[in-house]
Order: sequence, then structure tokens, then C-alpha cells
Amino acid sequence: MFLGLGSNLGDREAALSRARVLLTALPGTTVTAESGIYVTAPVGGPEQDDYLNQVVEVRTLLSPYELLTSVQGIEAELGRVRDIRWGPRTIDVDILWYHGFSSADARLEVPHPRMEERRFVLEPLAELAPDLVLPSGLTVTEALAGLPDQAVRRNDDRTAGTVSRRSERSPMDHSIVQKQIRRLAEETGAIILAHNYQRPEVQDIADIVGDSLGLSRQAATSKARMIVFCGVHFMAETAVILAPDIPVIAPEPQAGCAMADMVDVEGLAHLKAEHPDAVVISYVNTTAAVKALTDICCTSANAVEIVRSVPAGQEIIFTPDRNLGRWAAKKAGRKVIVWPGFCPTHDLVQVEDVERARAIHPAAKVVVHPECDPAVSDIADAVESTSGMIRFCREDDAEEYVIGTETGMIYRLCQDVPGKLFYPLTEMAVCPTMKLTTLQKVLESVRNAGPVVTVDEEIRTKALKAVQRMIEVGA
Ligand code: 13P
Ligand code: SF4
Repeated sequence: MFLGLGSNLGDREAALSRARVLLTALPGTTVTAESGIYVTAPVGGPEQDDYLNQVVEVRTLLSPYELLTSVQGIEAELGRVRDIRWGPRTIDVDILWYHGFSSADARLEVPHPRMEERRFVLEPLAELAPDLVLPSGLTVTEALAGLPDQAVRRNDDRTAGTVSRRSERSPMDHSIVQKQIRRLAEETGAIILAHNYQRPEVQDIADIVGDSLGLSRQAATSKARMIVFCGVHFMAETAVILAPDIPVIAPEPQAGCAMADMVDVEGLAHLKAEHPDAVVISYVNTTAAVKALTDICCTSANAVEIVRSVPAGQEIIFTPDRNLGRWAAKKAGRKVIVWPGFCPTHDLVQVEDVERARAIHPAAKVVVHPECDPAVSDIADAVESTSGMIRFCREDDAEEYVIGTETGMIYRLCQDVPGKLFYPLTEMAVCPTMKLTTLQKVLESVRNAGPVVTVDEEIRTKALKAVQRMIEVGA
């Protein structure tokens, strides 16, 4: 995505430089390229200083609204006084383009509605993305050609080397905390497990990165003195169910799963009473208490196989994900009674997102997670769990993929399948709770050997049966 930076008050170059540093310090955010700096005559009158303008390319895991709030925080930190139209400003940061996302909300107008009229935006943008198609349908180069001359010039007389086209590595240096975590983990005999959706810097310090089932299996066979589970609560609980003798630590105990919270014990007990002969299949994205009421668990990697394993003619209740339930039922050629839960991060993916992605990346295959709406899964090239995505992209012969799942997966795929290109289907697909686990929290949790996740023993033994049955079917 592209952001426009501008300043016409105080040390203008320092303000642009500081804004770039602060952008890169945002969670999951990096400035990946920056244009030269342009000098623009002030619109507000001759008594004002010239504007310095620049466009930067940014990769971020933040959703558009999170980015907006963060950008406003940067403006405030750099002394921007809001609401003075065309007045002197220490800094101005505009979201110009967010991967085709569009919003006409007065707070968040994206793509920026006036950028096509502004040479001081298009000139620097053309350095980074001359072929980007703007809302008018013109490319940046074509839109520039049609613009009247404006007093905009590239500031080439600045000290050489002040601005590099590619920014250096993130000034947010994680390496010190990462080394501390690794040293402590070794001293204490901890194994660190991280889900594929975790922040990149957390994935980097894990002993094992994987999907929910793979990580739980690792926990079950682990000889470690403690398990630090970087994921969401149900995953840590599943590790406790499988490895009751090893303390399982959740660095961020507040990291829940919105989908898991959509099915409750009372509601499920009621549905079971209405269908006393039904087999209850529950996605592992459920609490231990719901698993205890379940006959057999499944993950996105084995849902079709688990549905198929139920004898023909027997009723099936599937909780909590209606999308995974419907998709697995269709694949298995079975009827299921689906609980109406869903994952807010995946359910927002639209058929239009797939169509737009295919138009932008015609050579790419579209791979989506089965938590997406079945209308999206139906038109994708492949529907895979997170571990399935890695396998598919590694074995498949395409070079580029559009990935329809939580955006943390893009980092994982880039690491595990080098040499291929991965694009997010939508940068809106960010699981807020997956991103709550920070390096600092991991460090504290290893240091304090807590917080420890617990599961009531009676619930655990019942839940274990459902998880073990799943593992047996898989085997
Ligand atoms: P996986 O089982 O594919 O790791 O997915 C877990 C999850 O939470 C998906 O949203
Ligand atoms: Fe739960 Fe969805 Fe987040 Fe997965 S992505 S942990 S299903 S809320």
C-alpha cells in the first residue's frame, strides 16, 4: 500500500524521516520503498514555506482502520495540529492506496479521493508504482500525463544519500529480545510453539511453527519441561488436553478465538437433546468444555475425512464453523446440521476480492482457507488448511499465489516456499487476537513460567476422547 507524507513547517526533512521511522515501528509494518522528495509551492499562501512531499510503500498487517489510527498517532507525535485546512503542518500522512480496499467513510477515504488531481502525489507515486491503476481506470503515468503543470520539482539538491529508494531494515530491532527469549528457553527447558498466524518476529523465535493440529501433536509428544504456546486460547487448551503433565504457558491469556466463543455448552447440549442419535463433530477451534460434549474433533486439515468417517445414514452435528461444516459436508457428500458460528477474519472475504485479485495477478492461483464463505471456496483454485497451503504451494507448479487466510500466513509461506510470490487476498484478514502475543510477552512468560493454562480434569478426560478419535481417524 502507499502512503503520502507532507510537511511545510519546521525541520521538514526531519519530520518526513521521523514519520518513516515511526511507520516502520508500528506492529507488523515495514516501509519497503520510498520515493524521492518533491518540493511543492504552498497552496495556503506565499507566507507559508514550500511543502516537501514523498510517497512511501508500506507492508502492514494492520487493518485499514488500525492503520488510520496509528497514522493519526504519528501525526500527533510529530506535532500536527489538526483541522487547519491548507495551513502550515509539521507533518501530514495520508493513506493513498490500500491494496484495492475502498472506503468512502469520511474518516477513511481510500483510495485517496483527490490524489489523481495532485501532481505532488502522482510524481512521487510514479517512481514506485507507475502502472498502478487508479480509481479512474488510468495508470499513475497516464493520470500524470493529463494533469496541468503544477509547481512541483524533485528535490535533487538535497545532501546525497539522505533518502534511499529502499529503506534499510526495520529500525525496530527485535534481535535483542529474541536472543534473550532463546537463551531463557534453553536454560529453562521450554519449547516454544507458534501458530502460522503469529507475528513474524514471534514465528522467528519458535522451535516449531505450524497449524493448530500439528502444534498440538508436537505438544503431545514433547519432552520439554514447559510448553510456551503462542497462538490463541483453544490451542493452548488442546495442548493441555494432550500433554497434561507439562505446564502449558500462554504468553497472552486474553488471546481468545471469536469463533470458539460462538458455541456454548448449554446451546450444544440443547441441540444434542433435539438430535439424540447425531454424531457431534467439533472443530478444534472450540473450548475444552465444548470438546467434552463432542464425539470427534476435526481441524481444517482433516474435516472432510472426519465427516466421511461417520457411518452413512447417521445424523451429524458440526460445530462451530458453518463455513467449514458446509464445505466439508459438500466434499464428503453428506448432510450436516451446522452450528451458525464463523470466523470474523475469514468470513469477510468476498467473491469480489477473488475476482479483483485475479484481475491484478492473472498468473497467480487463489488458495483459500475453508473458514471462508463456501461461495469463495467454490471459485478458489485450492481450499487448504494452513499446513495444506504450504504443502500445496510447494508442490504446485505455479509461481504466484493469492492467499485467502489470515495475513500472517504470507510471512510463513515466504519462509517455507522460497522463490515463489504470495499476495494476500485481502489485507483486511487480520486476526486481532493472534496478534496480541508480542515478543515482550513471550519473554515475560518464559521468565515467569506463566500464566499457566489449566483445564478441569473431568472435562479434560472427556475432551481427550474426542481429540484422540480424530487422531485415530487421521492415522
Ligand atoms: P489451522 O487449523 O489451519 O491452523 O487454522 C486454525 C485457525 O484458527 C484458522 O483460523
Ligand atoms: Fe479464531 Fe478466526 Fe482468529 Fe482463527 S483466525 S483464531 S478462527 S478468530
